[in-house]
Amino acid sequence: MSENKKPLILGIESSCDETSVALLKGFDVLSHVIYSQLIHKEYGGVVPELASREHETAISRVVDKAFSDAPGIRPEDVDAIAVTYGPGLMGALLVGLNFAKGLAIALNKPLIAINHVEAHLYAPFLEFPDLNPPMLCLLVSGGHTMLIDVRGIRDFTILGQTLDDAAGESFDKVARLLKIGYPGGPVIDRLSEKGNAEAVVFPRPYLNKDSLDFSFSGLKTAVLNYTRDKVFTDQEIADIAAGFQASVVDVLEEKVRRAVVSTNHKNVILAGGVAANRLLRHRLRELSEKMDIKLYYPPLKYCTDNAAMIAAAGVLYYEKGWTSELTVPAVPNLRIYDYSYTG
Ligand code: KG4
Ligand code: ZN
Repeated sequence: MSENKKPLILGIESSCDETSVALLKGFDVLSHVIYSQLIHKEYGGVVPELASREHETAISRVVDKAFSDAPGIRPEDVDAIAVTYGPGLMGALLVGLNFAKGLAIALNKPLIAINHVEAHLYAPFLEFPDLNPPMLCLLVSGGHTMLIDVRGIRDFTILGQTLDDAAGESFDKVARLLKIGYPGGPVIDRLSEKGNAEAVVFPRPYLNKDSLDFSFSGLKTAVLNYTRDKVFTDQEIADIAAGFQASVVDVLEEKVRRAVVSTNHKNVILAGGVAANRLLRHRLRELSEKMDIKLYYPPLKYCTDNAAMIAAAGVLYYEKGWTSELTVPAVPNLRIYDYSYTG
């Protein structure tokens, strides 16, 4: 892409508990603001009604800040507005989507409705703009655990997915059982460093099945059974956290290995909030060396929910001429391959 041909895209994300806005020129991030809603911590999970209210009070300030952090860029300069329209919490999605529609009308610019889960796949482009499909993607977030054969933009096949809890969800549920805080992933990641992963060995769910699907709810139940009505020292809690994390990572690594063998892809991307997990990154790095494949994962700030990845998806869509009608609805249970709302 030559410098002046790169589209200038405003990205808006509000599907869960992050109000985020980014300005991208091509895949160059000019500004990126994330307002994380801390209010949910005291409830141990995201409270939908509170999330919408927080988005509502934050959104115009976050948009203003994105522009003031990108000197010389004015709203009328943007080529298009990319916004998440699903999946996510209905009230939360509506705040970002309606704000984006209002801007699109006021500025007379195209709206590009983006599937949040699909956008996670494109986050590595922010760091590696020359990365090209085909590639295998392990998408592991609070809502999804999928192995995806990505052949091109909007051209992919799901090779395997979770039959129950998502990987991130299991981190969050186990952290709640252990009463160590929310969101569980980062806490378990940190705590595991001090723990001995072999002190408590949990099952490796779905590893013996000849399938690329996942199942994590049994693992959570195993932790529940192990911890029920017992009191633990801090060291024992760290050991349980490490044992649980080792089980999840073993399963993810082995399924990635099998998917590489079956697709023969040489590029593997790791995306979604759980991609921030240090043990998972380390083990997949080792695997990539062993299998002579290239592993790409986005920097931490682009792994969890963020608007830069929404704008990156917007860049890819804009270049293909794919824009959306202003009638596009918010779709809380949108599937990754469902384009029936955007054509
Ligand atoms: O992608 P994301 O921000 O939101 C969704 O679209 O779901 O992912 C959030 C999930 C949470 O479940 C959180 O516990 C998990 O990502 N997570 C992690 C880590 N950082 C965030 N899981 C394991 N290790 C981490 N370091
Ligand atoms: Zn996400």
